[in-house]
Amino acid sequence: PSAVTVAIDGPSGTGKSSTSKAVAAKLGLRYLDTGAQYRAITWWMITNGIDTDDPQAIALAAGKPAIVSGTDPSAPTITVDGQDASGPIRTQEVTSKVSAVSAVPEVRALITDLQRSIAAEAAEAGGIVVEGRDIGTTVLPDADLKIFLTASAEARAARRSGELRGKEAADLAATKEALVKRDAADSGRKTSPLAKAGDAVEVDTTELTLDQVIECVVTLVEERR
Ligand code: C5P
Repeated sequence: PSAVTVAIDGPSGTGKSSTSKAVAAKLGLRYLDTGAQYRAITWWMITNGIDTDDPQAIALAAGKPAIVSGTDPSAPTITVDGQDASGPIRTQEVTSKVSAVSAVPEVRALITDLQRSIAAEAAEAGGIVVEGRDIGTTVLPDADLKIFLTASAEARAARRSGELRGKEAADLAATKEALVKRDAADSGRKTSPLAKAGDAVEVDTTELTLDQVIECVVTLVEERR
């Protein structure tokens, strides 16, 4: 089969990561979690005392951290200045600040370049599944397949709470509120907001199991190979 580039976008809690990793693993493709890259730069800003409410300070510092993504779907990694950041990027603090940091155009320009070079390299090795918010619209407008995953806010909050199960305190209403707020910020920003590309296939996952979503996307990829 020929190399294939797949863009999977959508709001939080639609199953983007689980779907993207599984599809990549099944089809022997690489995998890139672009949200992890924005989380990594946000974590670096927090750790280095940069005020995440100050877009100018963020813009000035944006080029400083070296962010490296491992693209094996069975064990994706992310390092910042050589340090494993997979744990720290998932904290509540990073989650609450990532939308502000990722809205800064200088941050987006740098991360977008990084994403394009990773996708270009992967195209030489069979292809890649790239998940995010603006992959189909901005990062890879020529992707072979674009998927836009959606789900009701209730379903998305329930899935997120499930993911946070370890911390029993995670209450559904608060999760839903934080998630809706983050999506509104991501959809409302000026530079490459969360949006469905005109040529993307929309898959509403509200009533589907993860396996059904994976199956659906795998079929769509195979049709295009
Ligand atoms: O996918 P995840 O929830 O980890 O993404 C974290 C945040 O990173 C999003 O809420 C958004 O602010 C930002 N992001 C983005 N563009 C992408 C991927 C993520 O702005 N392509």
